[in-house]
Amino acid sequence: MDRIRIVGGNQLNGRIQISGAKNAALPLMIASLLTSERLTLKNMPNLADVNLLARILRNHGADHLVDGKRLGSKTQIGETFHFTARDIVDTTAPYEMVSRMRASFWVLGPLLARMHQAKVSLPGGCAIGTRPVDLHLSGFKSLGANIDVVNGYVLASAPNGLQGGRVVFPKVSVGATHNVLMAAVLAKGETVIENAAREPEIGDVARCLVKMGAQIEGIDSSTLHIQGRDELEGAVHSVLPDRIETGTYAIAVAATGGDVELVGTNAELLTTALDELAKTGADITATENGIRIKRDAENLEPISIETRPFPGFPTDLQAQMMALMTIANGTSVVRETIFENRFMHVQELVRLGANITLHGDTATIKGVPQLHGAQVMATDLRASVSLVIGALAAKGETMISRVYHLDRGFEHLEQKLSGCGAQIERVSSD
Ligand code: EPZ
Repeated sequence: MDRIRIVGGNQLNGRIQISGAKNAALPLMIASLLTSERLTLKNMPNLADVNLLARILRNHGADHLVDGKRLGSKTQIGETFHFTARDIVDTTAPYEMVSRMRASFWVLGPLLARMHQAKVSLPGGCAIGTRPVDLHLSGFKSLGANIDVVNGYVLASAPNGLQGGRVVFPKVSVGATHNVLMAAVLAKGETVIENAAREPEIGDVARCLVKMGAQIEGIDSSTLHIQGRDELEGAVHSVLPDRIETGTYAIAVAATGGDVELVGTNAELLTTALDELAKTGADITATENGIRIKRDAENLEPISIETRPFPGFPTDLQAQMMALMTIANGTSVVRETIFENRFMHVQELVRLGANITLHGDTATIKGVPQLHGAQVMATDLRASVSLVIGALAAKGETMISRVYHLDRGFEHLEQKLSGCGAQIERVSSD
């Protein structure tokens, strides 16, 4: 199993190209099941999760072609994906696949809407919390679906097709919003989704659905009005920049010091996170191509954050911000309100010398003058990258094991960081 070796202490200076957003790319790929015509997706990130989902979609009958040249690459590795689900040959998403990637549960909406039936494995728990799917299922019931859960599978059917309805989510859920939205575009009549998640990735998917012929009003707001269509058509869509990757590298520069331009991204996608980062003393400016982040002062100011659905501080940047706070000049407080168990990074950051105490959903971080390299273990995607940030700021060598978590969500992480002066390399264990 690969590990990542980092020798900390170097500042980051240069430019980093931001990739397309994983959390938009995945539902956009799934949206290809809604039409028999070709959906072309540009600016696709090259990630383990994207490749796994492509396999799952091929299993349902989608043809998958890749072409194009990745930004900054001389070879034709392909950042443009074409999916054509002319015929859906299988409406079952088996446990072996759904259990490996939670977002694959979102095939349920498109399969149910187009084929009037689907059998999709429950995704099960995961490292960051129990993550139920009750909101997805109640949403489908509001659109007239029959739902049974048998032997770990959701059996969904709507023999005469889905009917538009009113869906009021009692809690904001990104996945349930994606899933029900993708079902509603092929339901008969109007659907209203209230208390919809407003994450930019949902707006990106909705805009792609509109290009495919869907009628959606209220995009980017918490109330979506959808007029169902009999069928959708093909489209070409470019995936929006990854705000979590953007925020991660911005925080890394704040941790090491330096001056980096993040290219191909947009500050408006993560205003709250950048505002918090600026409070630590980092200098952040919008540039023509993205964002420039600088930090040269010695002192990092402590901050207190609470994770919230968009436009609040994203849970997917909580671990990274905590890594930064471990070397702040004072005490910071981090409250996680989205997932009940998203503190797996705490014990690993402590191995690097951090001083963190946990009480329920709240972590108190007393800044230390210096972290020190150690052997640590990646647990989930964002927790893993918080260890990379800690290691870049630490003195000495850090070895991170189980880096397959990183490969799920960060494209060319080592190359992007070493291109800015970091001492980081992948070490193969064989
Ligand atoms: C999405 O997960 C993201 N995944 C997550 O990113 C992200 O952390 C999360 O949204 C919150 O922003 C993708 O986009 C692929 P939710 P999702 O449904 O949709 C509860 C990453 O690192 N809930 O918004 O699964 C749930 O338990 C990943 O890239 C229910 O109670 O998250 C949680 O407490 C990790 N019932 C809260 O809602 C439900 O039916 C928000 O979850 C559904 C969710």
